[in-house]
Amino acid sequence: MSYEYERVVTPSSGLRLHLNENTAGCSPAVIAALRGLTRQQAAFYPDYDEATDAAAARLGVTADRLLLTNGLDEGILATAVAAHRGSADSEAIVVLPAFDMYAACSDAAGGQVVEVPPPADLSFPLDRVLAAIGPRTRLVWLTTPNNPTGHSIPRDEIVRIASAAPQAIVFVDEAYADFAPATLLSDPVLDTLPNIVVGRTFAKAYGLAALRAGALVANPATLALLRRIVPPYSVNVCAALALPAACADTAYYEWYLGQVARSKALIYATLDRLGVGHWKSDANFVLARFRGDTARIVSALAARGMFVRDRSGDTGCAGCIRMTAGVFDDTRALAAALEEVLCGEA
Ligand SMILES: Cc1ncc(COP(=O)(O)O)c(C=O)c1O
Repeated sequence: MSYEYERVVTPSSGLRLHLNENTAGCSPAVIAALRGLTRQQAAFYPDYDEATDAAAARLGVTADRLLLTNGLDEGILATAVAAHRGSADSEAIVVLPAFDMYAACSDAAGGQVVEVPPPADLSFPLDRVLAAIGPRTRLVWLTTPNNPTGHSIPRDEIVRIASAAPQAIVFVDEAYADFAPATLLSDPVLDTLPNIVVGRTFAKAYGLAALRAGALVANPATLALLRRIVPPYSVNVCAALALPAACADTAYYEWYLGQVARSKALIYATLDRLGVGHWKSDANFVLARFRGDTARIVSALAARGMFVRDRSGDTGCAGCIRMTAGVFDDTRALAAALEEVLCGEA
């Protein structure tokens, strides 16, 4: 079986609610910082001290525990390389439904992907994950809150997994943790269980998806293995300039979190009214299970300029569509379009 990241077709205009992006854009302070880019800064290899310090302070960790990456995707790839290198039959556990990059990167790094299917309610299958751990397990990919379900994994369940697999890296992808109630970032468990690596991104809440800014956070000894793999200048100067500005604009960040919370409430209320099943999400998107044909619903929304993600092909996700919850006014437009499309179908 081969695994690859499914790159979705990008609409040239319209409302992008298909990739969990920040629908408001980044903080204006980021654009001001980019305008200050000098010819020398473009010409010289970048220095990351300021960006690293800003990101570490914002995430509440010390700089020696944080490694900047070219988007969290690079952190995922580096982790796969670190876990699978030098071992002919190493395994990576992927808990479905999952972000495609885990299987793609483990596969590319020579690991065998062990898929753990979800129960019907898509809750986190702790017992199945524990049962899948064996002597060949070198990597366990966890996502909290998960993409595409929006469910968080309780801390003690992560701890049980990391304790059961001391020979493996347990990668805790917190790409959406800005929107969630919990994080492992400054948790002492990163020292008591140094096999845990936390991944973060500035793509979502900070709106830097195109600038590519992510981070790995771990015990310094664990992080040393990953520092050997991530290229020394993989984060470009624009991302390095953007990070301090984005981290400093906490008012913008809080405003955006408020927009996402209001948007999720509106999406839940709309889906309730329309009789569409859905899950409460700790992230900036909502997964819903429609009764009709998802391809038809997705294209009817696209015809109205709204792009959402058909996830019905994911294990356990028949009938499911994922919608980004961003700026409240955008969500109002989505809610109106959903009413039109679904009531028109009745
Ligand atoms: C769970 C998860 N991890 C990582 C990423 C990638 O983040 P980045 O854009 O920083 O590479 C995404 C992007 O959608 C994601 O959903």
